[in-house]
Amino acid sequence: MTGQVTLHGVTKAFGSLVAVDGIDVDFAPGVTGLLGPNGAGKTTLMRMVATVVAADGGHMDVLGHDPSTGSGRLEIRRQLGYLPQEPGFHRNFSAFDFVDYISILKEWGDRNARHDEVRRVLSLVGLEAVMHKNIGRLSGGMRRRVAIAQALLGSPRLLVLDEPTAGLDPEQRLLFRELLGTAGHDAIVLLSTHQTDDVAALCNRVVVLLAGRVRFVGSPGDLAQRADGRVWTAATRDARAEVAWVIGDGSVRHIGTPPAGAQLVVPTVEDGYLLLARDADVSVVGQS
Ligand SMILES: Nc1ncnc2c1ncn2[C@@H]1O[C@H](COP(=O)(O)OP(=O)(O)OP(=O)(O)O)[C@@H](O)[C@H]1O
Ligand SMILES: [Mg+2]
Repeated sequence: MTGQVTLHGVTKAFGSLVAVDGIDVDFAPGVTGLLGPNGAGKTTLMRMVATVVAADGGHMDVLGHDPSTGSGRLEIRRQLGYLPQEPGFHRNFSAFDFVDYISILKEWGDRNARHDEVRRVLSLVGLEAVMHKNIGRLSGGMRRRVAIAQALLGSPRLLVLDEPTAGLDPEQRLLFRELLGTAGHDAIVLLSTHQTDDVAALCNRVVVLLAGRVRFVGSPGDLAQRADGRVWTAATRDARAEVAWVIGDGSVRHIGTPPAGAQLVVPTVEDGYLLLARDADVSVVGQS
């Protein structure tokens, strides 16, 4: 379908290591968050959707195009904004020149319209005051925002953002949430993160990847719900808990099977995710 991204049995291996293991999933307009531990296959999956690497097996349809063909990749790239996990910069470029350079690669011809667009995306990420500074002189979080800005050029129909909020300060994360809330009205936004509060605040859908496989698809609320009745606090650590950690007030938050009379608390997306990730016998759950 033209308005969707669909993956059927998609696989990618690096030598004997299977990074993405027969994934079936689709992404519709809205914001989908990809959660999973380090090495789960999030970046590999996003790189395949963004036509950076080819799948080894399975079938993909991205906005009605086949990324395994040259013409399909070209059509997808024309409608794509992509933020790599580790973007490379020309450090001697200013933020403006860098984003302008990307906009030229994206076939923006008319100079005035192009420069207006470059200024628009840089102001969306709050960088207008420093856009003529060399990228090498910007802070890490500011560089991240330059990279986000280039992904937003031309308001693409498909936005693939690999850890966009890593390194952003709280104010910028809020700004980013607002920005994506707007983009997610029309575009298909796929983002990865390790911050479950971003998922709760930003995403209408969450996909959990564990060891290259989809282990959960549903709303952030559904993921939190999975830990309902399984999260409790107590003054001391209970050895029977699957996960336990000390929280701000000095009490201990536990996830697992609570003892009788435990002080149950309302679970968060993080609780649901931790429980899912800890569950060794986990099977595919949830519905889109
Ligand atoms: N180019 C590569 N060559 C060899 N192995 C790779 C390559 N890229 C990824 N891998 C391996 O594939 C697996 C999945 O990696 P990937 O980067 O997709 O994980 P991730 O979920 O994005 O992790 P993180 O949260 O750390 O970013 C890992 O075991 C990784 O070592
Ligand atoms: Mg990654």
